Amino acid sequence: MIKKIAILTSGGDAPGMNAAIRAAAKTAMAKGMKVYGVQRGYMGMLNDEIFPMDGGYVSGIIDRGGTRLLTARCLEFKDPKFRAIAAQNLKKRGIEGLIVIGGDGSYRGADLLSKEHDIKVVGIPGTIDNDIKGTDYTIGFDTCLNTILDAISKIRDTATSHERTVLVEVMGRHAGDLALQACIAGGGDGLLIPEMENPIELLAFQIRERRKQGKLHDIVLVAEGVGKAQDIEVELSKRLNTEVRTVVLGHIQRGGTPSGFDRVLATRMGAKAVELLEEGEGGVMVGIENNKIITHPISFAWDGTRNYDFRPDYDLALLLAK
Ligand code: F6P
Repeated sequence: MIKKIAILTSGGDAPGMNAAIRAAAKTAMAKGMKVYGVQRGYMGMLNDEIFPMDGGYVSGIIDRGGTRLLTARCLEFKDPKFRAIAAQNLKKRGIEGLIVIGGDGSYRGADLLSKEHDIKVVGIPGTIDNDIKGTDYTIGFDTCLNTILDAISKIRDTATSHERTVLVEVMGRHAGDLALQACIAGGGDGLLIPEMENPIELLAFQIRERRKQGKLHDIVLVAEGVGKAQDIEVELSKRLNTEVRTVVLGHIQRGGTPSGFDRVLATRMGAKAVELLEEGEGGVMVGIENNKIITHPISFAWDGTRNYDFRPDYDLALLLAK
């Protein structure tokens, strides 16, 4: 049985990462494993920032956003030479298992590490973007969605008072999940996401129709994957022949105390990752599908298209936006 494991967080931080660290560490300790933390993701693994973790380290962090282990993006990890150095830093401590909490970029590093250096690696999906294939939800998505909804409510107050159209640019990298679900849950009046065609002329038409019905404002959700909302603002205001405002929510979307959903999801995934290592599994990711914690080979995450069928939710969002 694996006796020593390490945990790291990698890529953009996401609310709930701490809950996953805590669950993995406490589950492993309860099974008699020795647990190590790696600071600053793969960068820290490469620079030997690896330390023995005790129960105190993970105490009082379940409700904290960000990641106690710190995170970084590490370009060097694409080079096998540097992966070998990083693997050696684990091996010299007798660490045989690694839990990587992060996005699919982090999974690629994990996959190569497990194939080249016989380290058992389990990936936990932690990103606000919800863009990982093989899981219905990623840790941090729900909290981020609620942060966006809070912002929309505030923006709506001022948009109505001034009878304005406001473009709200949200994160998501190449995925439209945050914009789409924020549009549905926030009562958005327009939606631009990279998974669909987004003719500005159609958006302008919809806004003009809404105004004819006496609507006083328009909140349009723009996924960053579509392009800069500021550029869209220029196009749209020309067509509407009126001023349009843009709010880029930015990094505020990554912070804050994790929602109950994200804490439970992270806890279930963290515990499952340790069970998998205990069973000798490696090169796998955990996910949630139909409310069950499941596993896939880690390469599943970037192998083909995602299982989220955008169309029904997109059609619903646009229907309700009228
Ligand atoms: O992957 C999370 C994310 O917040 C994306 O939504 C966004 O495109 C990106 O990270 C921003 O990265 P950075 O914090 O490096 O600017």
